[in-house]
Amino acid sequence: MIAPTPPVEATATVVSAHGLARTYGTGDAAVEALRGVDLDVPRGQFLAIMGPSGSGKSTLMHILAGLDRPTAGTCLIDDAEITALNDRDLTLLRRDKVGFIFQFFNLLPMLTAAENIELPLRLAGRSPTRSGATA
Ligand SMILES: Nc1ncnc2c1ncn2[C@@H]1O[C@H](COP(=O)(O)OP(=O)(O)OP(=O)(O)O)[C@@H](O)[C@H]1O
Ligand SMILES: [Mg+2]
Repeated sequence: MIAPTPPVEATATVVSAHGLARTYGTGDAAVEALRGVDLDVPRGQFLAIMGPSGSGKSTLMHILAGLDRPTAGTCLIDDAEITALNDRDLTLLRRDKVGFIFQFFNLLPMLTAAENIELPLRLAGRSPTRSGATA
């Protein structure tokens, strides 16, 4: 008799960042957009990052999503240390695990809204209709 396999415990923390710093530019023109940010996001949590214009919200979001690399610190998505990934692996992780709506949208104008949403699935060789999604 084969004992049933216990369900694999999902990691409790989906995003975990520690000591994140991001400096733009150098010398007199250097801007410290982030200075030692620590953040743990539990799986399933709806999180809003709020603050005045220029406080570093977009900078933080870009790093948490693997779109930009921090000057210092670590960032894990689903237990993968994204600051250590090469470009190819980071691209695959973004494609499979991250959805991002940009402040200025960055949608492809020649595609419909639905086609823009489907694009990452198509690039991954998956069909949105086969997985039950409707647009
Ligand atoms: N590419 C860049 N080069 C130099 N400085 C930058 C760059 N991007 C952002 N900054 C600076 O970093 C700081 C944080 O900017 P960021 O865009 O992350 O703020 P924000 O909180 O998203 O602002 P907003 O609410 O206006 O979108 C600001 O001082 C900004 O001028
Ligand atoms: Mg912003």
